[in-house]
Amino acid sequence: MHPASPTFFQHNVTFRMSRELQLFVVMVSMVQLLHGLQVEAASGPKTLVLYAHENRVAPNNTLIGSAAPNGNLTDEQFGLIKTVSNTLRAGPELDSKQIGYQTGIVVLGQDLLSIYISYTYFLSNASDYGISTIAVHGHIDGLYPGNRAFAVVGGTGTFSSVTGEDSSPFDAVVIDEAHVVNTHTLTLRYPPAYK
Ligand SMILES: *[C@@H]1O[C@H](CO)[C@@H](O)[C@H](O)[C@H]1NC(C)=O
Ligand SMILES: *[C@@H]1O[C@H](CO)[C@@H](O)[C@H](O)[C@H]1NC(C)=O
Ligand SMILES: *[C@@H]1O[C@H](CO)[C@@H](O)[C@H](O)[C@H]1NC(C)=O
Repeated sequence: MHPASPTFFQHNVTFRMSRELQLFVVMVSMVQLLHGLQVEAASGPKTLVLYAHENRVAPNNTLIGSAAPNGNLTDEQFGLIKTVSNTLRAGPELDSKQIGYQTGIVVLGQDLLSIYISYTYFLSNASDYGISTIAVHGHIDGLYPGNRAFAVVGGTGTFSSVTGEDSSPFDAVVIDEAHVVNTHTLTLRYPPAYK
């Protein structure tokens, strides 16, 4: 007689359950518990296009050398840290709504073609996603500037614990030196959420 059949229970309910049946019951309970805890993955967008508006004209430039290394080095050598503080707008147009900032650092490597970047997109309440952030780390290779792909390593709010890739080919639209638009296309994955 199959252990799960009703007759089995009717006839054996007063008997001690077999060790196998006890294990089976425990496993079923655990699976049900996990199933109950797991909810839909976060419902943020799978693709997100961000427009980072840059200004290259002092004193309003949005990328500056902020920490030079000691020694006889120029402003464009190994060890220089630059700070970036671009404005995020809803679109590439100069008058499109401001929805946040792209703030972070750029660090020049020894051969000046190997550059480390780290920044956060801060999305304000004016964005479609409420107040939230997306964190990005990556590397710019000066020899292959067309293939710029960075790692999305986390986020908050709508983008809680997101991962993925931020692709930004070096094809910024230069309207004039004070108005440069960098396009970032993010492909995003969300972890399952637990209650
Ligand atoms: C810098 O920004 C200020 C404030 O928006 C503005 O008045 C000034 O004209 C800008 N300077 C340049 C060189 O664009
Ligand atoms: C800095 O380095 C350059 C090139 O190596 C050299 O010509 C110059 O004299 C150095 N300047 C100082 C102040 O050491
Ligand atoms: C955020 O935006 C929503 C929708 O536009 C609005 O209802 C809400 O009041 C805003 N919250 C804050 C703190 O500005």
